[in-house]
Amino acid sequence: MPEAQLLRVNALKTFYGDFQALYGVDIEVSAGQIVAIIGANGAGKSTLLNSIVGLNPAPPSAIRFCGTDIGGEAPYRIVRRGLTIVPEGRRLFTSLSVEENLLIGAEVKRPGEWTLAKIYQLFPILRDFRNRPARLLSGGQQQMVAIGRALMSNPKLLLCDELSLGLAPVVVKEIYLYIKRIVAGGVSAVIVEQDIQQALKIADHVYCMLEGRIALQGPARSLSREAIAAAYFGV
Ligand SMILES: Nc1ncnc2c1ncn2[C@@H]1O[C@H](COP(=O)(O)OP(=O)(O)OP(=O)(O)O)[C@@H](O)[C@H]1O
Ligand SMILES: [Mg+2]
Repeated sequence: MPEAQLLRVNALKTFYGDFQALYGVDIEVSAGQIVAIIGANGAGKSTLLNSIVGLNPAPPSAIRFCGTDIGGEAPYRIVRRGLTIVPEGRRLFTSLSVEENLLIGAEVKRPGEWTLAKIYQLFPILRDFRNRPARLLSGGQQQMVAIGRALMSNPKLLLCDELSLGLAPVVVKEIYLYIKRIVAGGVSAVIVEQDIQQALKIADHVYCMLEGRIALQGPARSLSREAIAAAYFGV
């Protein structure tokens, strides 16, 4: 039996004014999967995630989530459907406490098991630091807050934009262990990642973007280094 399809992006074109950033992008995510999107700077990875969560305009049929066309819906409605983004650069409220940041994620909330207590169980260090301003945390801890904030909405699918940006390799490893645990608990994930090895290690399926298009895709195990390098750099 085929796995249940969660998300389908269908011929998505995204424009910033006159500038076209996406030229007909197709991706699919099934329940229980980790899907990686790789690509060089400016390939359109963040544009794709932001378009999925309603931050860029999209025609309804370009984004299908759990069997419903949702393209162009308001971001808060999309969160309520179970699609939440961990944005590039984390975007925490750095003067607010860890706990206040987490609670912001629950403002548009679906029913579900993710509560403050469960976030603190997953990330015990955040319980210790719950009253500290987010700016006083390390980069890795701030990334945990950003992931925790997204989980507070009880998503079915978590979209993660460059979790490893600016983090030491050992911290990146730790963050991806957490992502694996979260997915094992029943949340699916799309991860945008510039580190190809990291993406191949964690993902079931990989899409490689080049200049606003999907240049290559396939199960992570089936893609050769040569094919990825060619798609990544367009050589
Ligand atoms: N708000 C915006 N207004 C105009 N152009 C934009 C905007 N955001 C992104 N772009 C352009 O769209 C293209 C895709 O950018 P995007 O940020 O999606 O790439 P990316 O793959 O996420 O890159 P990076 O790895 O640097 O994060 C780039 O040419 C970028 O300059
Ligand atoms: Mg980006």
